[in-house]
Amino acid sequence: MRIAFFDTKPYDKSAFEKYAEEYGVSIKYFETKLNEDTAELASGFDAVCAFVNDTVNDKVIDKFYEMGIRVLALRCAGFNQVDMKYAYGKLHVLRVPAYSPYAVAEHAIALLLTSVRRIHKAYIRSKDFNFSLTGLTGFDLHGKTVGVIGTGKIGKVFMNICRGFGMKILAYDKYPDSNLEKDGSVRYVSMEALLQNSDIISLHCPLTEETYHVIDEKALNLCKKGVILLNTSRGALVDAEALLNGIKSRKVGAACLDVYEEESEWFFEDNSGHIMEDDTLARLISMPNVIVTSHQAFLTEDALENIAQTTLENLRVFFATGQCENELCHKGDSIQDCKNGKCF
Ligand code: NAI
Repeated sequence: MRIAFFDTKPYDKSAFEKYAEEYGVSIKYFETKLNEDTAELASGFDAVCAFVNDTVNDKVIDKFYEMGIRVLALRCAGFNQVDMKYAYGKLHVLRVPAYSPYAVAEHAIALLLTSVRRIHKAYIRSKDFNFSLTGLTGFDLHGKTVGVIGTGKIGKVFMNICRGFGMKILAYDKYPDSNLEKDGSVRYVSMEALLQNSDIISLHCPLTEETYHVIDEKALNLCKKGVILLNTSRGALVDAEALLNGIKSRKVGAACLDVYEEESEWFFEDNSGHIMEDDTLARLISMPNVIVTSHQAFLTEDALENIAQTTLENLRVFFATGQCENELCHKGDSIQDCKNGKCF
């Protein structure tokens, strides 16, 4: 099997090469992102492997169809980069639904602790032998209320860690998991109540039409003054302009962002020698109470191994049987895992 692999980084290549021989696949690694200008590179391959900032729109799907490519293996969980409605009937879309919820949840906590204990400031000071503590006063997480939006795999791990800190946990999910409330440590509330009562808000829901800009000006107005916002899910869950205004007006106490709405222009690449043309991102990064990482939450050795293994196993099973439990399918208005059975 020959796979065209887009948006390759060195850590992807080493993780996939470890398993390529075992799975009997030959992988051509393209550094470029997948979009309508680069889709033709996949000509002659059996399948395409793509990541979060690749673009799989109607034009790309049509090109694949003309080239006889019927399988797209996403090496990620999210699939908002794929026009799933258009893909139905033309392209089988496989994904890695879970590779390490711990990687993402732990990164969210790392950002939170860095922010509230000013570690990002202290690190730079110590490097310069500046051992002054002025301006580094933090606060205890113990006893604070954290609001978790999206209580799936990552949200659950995140809540477990928060429980360890002795935090109170409010949750909102479109499909609540009643088991979570059993021991009394988590309470599902309305979105409005979560926004009004949380000291810290962490986003762990997928990006959909419904969740687009779920944190906008109106939502921020409902929040407590000084709220800390964590986003390790998808950039467009947050209206970045509204967030910037919230920071300028001191409504938002801090923001920790692993994702950003327009990240595909900038993230994953070294732009240090370039002029930053995104004024909102530049202004956010300039703030002392904003921490930005470049969609790094997934990046652990454990997660990379799981991603490589599951992606190749998905392809092996699909090519052997014509179906795969990790195939996504768009039926009616909803997108669901096929859980075996043919998608189309
Ligand atoms: P999951 O599918 O296990 O959980 C998502 C939860 O969101 C579910 O409980 C679902 O019911 C809920 N949800 C769906 N629609 C909602 C809505 N309208 N409002 C509130 N809740 C809603 O997914 P998982 O594995 O926990 O991942 C969550 C998200 O994390 C992914 O969609 C992805 O965008 C992001 N992610 C980010 C990574 C990073 O490196 N920064 C890596 C992996 C995932």
